[in-house]
Amino acid sequence: RWQSRSMDLSPASPVASPLKALMAAIEDTGRDERRGGYSRPVYSAAERDLREWFTSEALRRGLVVETDANGILWAWWDLPGDSAAGIDGTSGVPERRGALVTGSHLDSVPGGGAFDGPLGVAGALAAVDLLQAREREGGLIRNRALAVAVFPEEEGSRFGVACLGSRLLAGAIDPAKALSLRDADGNTFADVARANGLDPELMGRDEAALSRIGDFVELHVEQGRGLNTEEFMDAAGRGPAVAVGGSVLGHGRWRFTIAGQGNHAGTTLMADRADPMVAAAQLIVAVRQTAAAQSGARATVGRLEPVPGGTNVIASRVDLWLDVRHPEDVVTAALVEKIHGQAQRIAAMEGCTVRLTEESYSGTVHFDAALQRSLEQSVARTVPGAPVLATGAGHDAGVLAALVPTGMLFVRNPSGISHSPEEYVEDADAELGVAALADALQDLL
Ligand code: GLV
Ligand code: MN
Ligand code: MN
Ligand code: MN
Repeated sequence: RWQSRSMDLSPASPVASPLKALMAAIEDTGRDERRGGYSRPVYSAAERDLREWFTSEALRRGLVVETDANGILWAWWDLPGDSAAGIDGTSGVPERRGALVTGSHLDSVPGGGAFDGPLGVAGALAAVDLLQAREREGGLIRNRALAVAVFPEEEGSRFGVACLGSRLLAGAIDPAKALSLRDADGNTFADVARANGLDPELMGRDEAALSRIGDFVELHVEQGRGLNTEEFMDAAGRGPAVAVGGSVLGHGRWRFTIAGQGNHAGTTLMADRADPMVAAAQLIVAVRQTAAAQSGARATVGRLEPVPGGTNVIASRVDLWLDVRHPEDVVTAALVEKIHGQAQRIAAMEGCTVRLTEESYSGTVHFDAALQRSLEQSVARTVPGAPVLATGAGHDAGVLAALVPTGMLFVRNPSGISHSPEEYVEDADAELGVAALADALQDLL
C-alpha cells in the first residue's frame, strides 16, 4: 500500500484506472474469514453495502438510479434533454424505451471470488467513464439511453434459485413460487424483499422494465480455462484477454431428500440402522460416475444438510442438492432420471426413502447472432482474434436472452478457477475487458 501510494504521487505515473479504484473500494466488503474469499448473499449487510457503493458511484457519474419492483438496480445515463431535470424545457420524462443495458450482479456464492459479478458492475461504471470522456471530447454520438443494471440473487446462494431477479423480471418464475422460497434461517423471500423496501405484491414479469431493454451486454470473468486453451494461445503461451459469449450451457438444480431413522450413535447396532448419510455418500459417488460416463455432462453435489446434524446422532434426514449441466436438455433430463433411479435403489438398500424435487431449470441459450457479430467487431479493435466462447456458468444474460438481444464478454481467467477465493484476473486483461465493453457499447449506442 505504501509503495503504491508513493507511486501515485509520482508525476510520471499513469492515471489510475477507474476499474482498479472501483474494485479496490469494495475489496473489504463481505470478506469471509472462515471460508476465505467473499460471502455476499443477496440482501445481506455486505450486499446492501455494495448496492450503496454502486448507487453513490452511479450518482457521481450523473446517472439516475432507480430500484424496480423486483429489486433490480438501474443507473440511467439518459440522452441529453431527456434528463429527469428537464433542463431543456421538455417534459423531463426520459425516453428509455429500447435502451442499451449493461451490468451484472453483486451477490456471491459462499466463499466466492472477487470478480464473479462485481467485475461486470465495476467494469460497466468504468466503461461509462470512458464513454463520458469520449462524449466530452466530441467522440461519441448517442442515439439511445444507456443503463447499468445490478441483478439481485444471481447466484441463488440464499434462496436456492439462481438469477432470481432476472427470472422475476422476465416472468421466468412464478412470483408466488419465488416469494415462498426460504433461506437457511427460514426467512421467506417475501419477508426479506419487504424488509428491503420492496412490495411482494408487485413482483413478477415487468413489461415496462422489459420495454426499456433494447439490448443487454454483460461483462464477466471467464469461469473456466476457455481462453487459456492451446487453440487460442500466442507464441508466449498466453490466451487472448477477452472472448465474446456464444452460448450458456443448460443447467438445473434438484433437491434429494433422503429420509431414514434418526437414532443414537452408541446404542444402535450397525445392522439396525437406516442411515440417510450412508445413502447420501453412495449417491454422491453415483452422481460422479454417471456424469463421467456422459460426454459433455457436468454434475455436482456441492451442498448437503444432515438433520439434525450431530456427531453422536444418526441423521433422520439428509437434504442434498444436485447441479446438472449439459448442452442438450433431453440429455440433462435423462441424466437426472438415471440418478433418481440410482438414488431410489441406494436408499432402499439402506432402509431409507428418497424424494426428488426440481428447484430450477434453464435450457441451453444461444446468444443473439447479430449482437454477437457486433460484439466481435467491436472487441476486435482492442483484442484482435478474440474468440467466441461457450460458458458452462449461468448468467442473468442467459435469462434475458429469451426476451431481448443479449450478449456477453468474458475476461481471461488464468487459472480457470471460479466460485472460489482463488478466482483472479490480471489487471491488464480486466482493463482490456473494460475497453472492449466501452467500444461495444459505443458501437451499439
Ligand atoms: C452461477 O454462477 C452458476 O453458474 O451456477
Ligand atoms: Mn456471475
Ligand atoms: Mn457465479
Ligand atoms: Mn452465475
